Amino acid sequence: MAFPEGFAWGASTSAYQVEGGWDADGKGPSVWDTFTHQGGERVFKNQTGDVACGSYTLWEEDLKCIKQLGLTHYHFSLSWSRLLPDGTTGFINQKGIDYYNKIIDDLLTNGVTPIVTLYHFDLPQALEDQGGWLSEAIIESFDEYAQFCFSTFGDRVKQWITINEPNLFALLTYDFGVFPPGVPHHGTGGYLATHNLIKAHARSWHSYDSLFRKGQKGMVSLALFAGWVQPADPNSASDQEAAQRAMAFHLDIFAKPIFIDGDYPEVVKSQVASMSKKQGYPSSRLPEFTEEEKRMIKGTADFFAVQYYSSRLVKYRENDKGELSFLQDVEIEIFPDPSWIKLDWICVVPWGLRKLLNYIKDTYNNPVIYITENGFPQGDPASLDDTQRWEYFKQTFQELFKAIQLDKVNLKLYCVWSLLDNFEWNQGYSIRFGLFHVDFDNPARPRVPYTSAKEYAKIIRNNGLEE
Ligand code: NOJ
Repeated sequence: MAFPEGFAWGASTSAYQVEGGWDADGKGPSVWDTFTHQGGERVFKNQTGDVACGSYTLWEEDLKCIKQLGLTHYHFSLSWSRLLPDGTTGFINQKGIDYYNKIIDDLLTNGVTPIVTLYHFDLPQALEDQGGWLSEAIIESFDEYAQFCFSTFGDRVKQWITINEPNLFALLTYDFGVFPPGVPHHGTGGYLATHNLIKAHARSWHSYDSLFRKGQKGMVSLALFAGWVQPADPNSASDQEAAQRAMAFHLDIFAKPIFIDGDYPEVVKSQVASMSKKQGYPSSRLPEFTEEEKRMIKGTADFFAVQYYSSRLVKYRENDKGELSFLQDVEIEIFPDPSWIKLDWICVVPWGLRKLLNYIKDTYNNPVIYITENGFPQGDPASLDDTQRWEYFKQTFQELFKAIQLDKVNLKLYCVWSLLDNFEWNQGYSIRFGLFHVDFDNPARPRVPYTSAKEYAKIIRNNGLEE
């Protein structure tokens, strides 16, 4: 199963999840520093990313892992508050620039292409204090930060992701309140944040387009979280509609404005409007884009970056009590098929990824697709022999192969989440996604390859599967 020539094989990490050095060399606090330091059992055993994998001082160890795998691409994120401690260019932290320059230069010297995410959940605390993503002011702040990154690193970085999983982030942060600052705004905050995230992304894409693209010749997109959903009863029209609503509310709500026409899906608009009306709101809880904003948002991505982990079954469930929450707005129930293997919240459904890729191809005019994250967790304590997990990766590659060869999906890149075991947000270090095991009790944080790392290296060497 040979993949097309030049297919890109990568692995991903993110700043807060691996770097540590939370206050080293002038770094400002991010919302995750504040949140984890407050305790309160919102994170498994009150663990923090203060040290994490120690990548701030152990970058060379990460590079060894990258070389051992033979990655063609390494996807990582910049810590906004390491570069701009209070979130603005009023004060620039040279030590932060030096750190990322070293990573980028070392990668390029070793023939590895960097894919850089500007923002992966870790907002500078100073900006959260001013309202974070609920405030329109964030659009300006994000654009300032993005322009700073393009001008500092864009001579060498050609593949940019503005925002990581804004669709999941908006919900977990501002609707459910499980991410910092930990304050729920059920049924309202998620939409408000979504609105500002879309505009911030689009603004920074335009900045790249007008100020940097000509000289730097790079590409800019955003990385959307997406699961696959199947109607629980494939013969039920209401379950089929429920599955369409699920896709609209979690993926198309970002993808349609950005890739198609600058506006939210009709079903999202009508659904939220009618719920809001029933609940006595004077207007829809989903904000509207102006015509000028729609023109600004439309077409602001140079490729389609998607991150897939899991699939679910979906069926219709009426919100008959008029409950106020994002999930109730969709009027669905989601649940796993009992026959699927479950690893924590993830159902192992490799064919779901093929379906998802086809959905993107058909809905979004056959774009170039990058899978910027995909992976499977190990329990803790983890054994280095993860043959079973490798089986799931292999099944995934078979599905990718079919998607490319049979379905003609324009897939160009695949990244494993993650290079290293790391800090998994609310789950702390209790679940391990790494290709390399990290011993978090050992101050040297040794990295040791799982079986999957050795097998992935073979796939990369052969540019595909042997059988
Ligand atoms: C997506 C997120 O981008 C990443 O931060 C997280 O660790 C993985 N999914 C696994 O849950």
